[in-house]
Amino acid sequence: SHPYVIVSAPVPEDLRTSIEANFNIVDVPVGKRLEDALDSDRLQEIAGIVCTVRTKLDEGVMASMPKLRVISNFAVGFDNVDVAAANARNILVCNTPRVLDSAVADLVFGMIIILGRDMLNGDTYVRDGTWASKGAPALTRDIRGKTLGLLGMGRIGRVVAKTAKAFDMNVIYHNRNRCSDAESEGLAEYRDREALLAEADFLSIHVPLTDATRNSIGERELKIMKSSAYLINTSRGAVVDEQALVEALKSGEIAGAGLDVMVKEPLPAESPLCSMRNVVLQAHVGSGTVETRRAMIDLATRNLIDALTNKQPEAMVNPQVWGSKAE
Ligand code: GLV
Ligand code: GLV
Repeated sequence: SHPYVIVSAPVPEDLRTSIEANFNIVDVPVGKRLEDALDSDRLQEIAGIVCTVRTKLDEGVMASMPKLRVISNFAVGFDNVDVAAANARNILVCNTPRVLDSAVADLVFGMIIILGRDMLNGDTYVRDGTWASKGAPALTRDIRGKTLGLLGMGRIGRVVAKTAKAFDMNVIYHNRNRCSDAESEGLAEYRDREALLAEADFLSIHVPLTDATRNSIGERELKIMKSSAYLINTSRGAVVDEQALVEALKSGEIAGAGLDVMVKEPLPAESPLCSMRNVVLQAHVGSGTVETRRAMIDLATRNLIDALTNKQPEAMVNPQVWGSKAE
């Protein structure tokens, strides 16, 4: 019979049909632990998984699936997967890069403009009658001519940099490795980490969540930032020390924040962030448009099917695993 694959992602009907041509689908509700959803006999039969970032794939769960050959993440980020454990077991990990870059960049720019022009406050002013009773709100600042600091210069960072150019912003970046191509294209100037933090009027984070980046924006970094600066995070919540961020926002260490991602998602409504007027919040929707999510699920499904039918997938996180299979 056909091999079994877990579907724990919003795969539309037409793509389910293409999976079912060669595989048996085992549905698991999005975000449900695989160990809780399936008994061990079923897990032992699983050859592939397509899932969201809400599915944790650690060494333990991989060990329960001895036939597992591919994890196809419906996301560009893959911090939900223990890639070292996957490497050790020759499990290919795939993701969905490129197709979401512009949607995320658009969200970043929405936040830059909402924060820079104080539009949350402005909206309230109009709605609650303050405009009528007290007159117009305080003047804000130009976006034009301000400095955008990019922490991380991957594909998404580059599209954000390109967008910033259209707003006549100065763009600077810091990345683990220098990106001489981005520099020679005139997209952004390199800064060391401290200079990036110190110079940015808007600091936008575009690094993956790893042991090295977890909590890497904390009290010290927030102190280096200008008190007029805004922090924008569309990457992963845990890159920022959220408690330190709350303190920095309260004490005026920075001017505001735009957050699409939080340490705990959904963000509990009791979070102090929810009552701050200088913070714009979104529900992890950087890639959340109809067109982008369709392109992502197309790619994730293709990655899954290709990997299991011996066709090299388009987007591999650990291509060395594919290379070793081909030998
Ligand atoms: C979403 O968070 C992604 O990594 O694509
Ligand atoms: C992250 O992986 C990116 O594409 O910038």
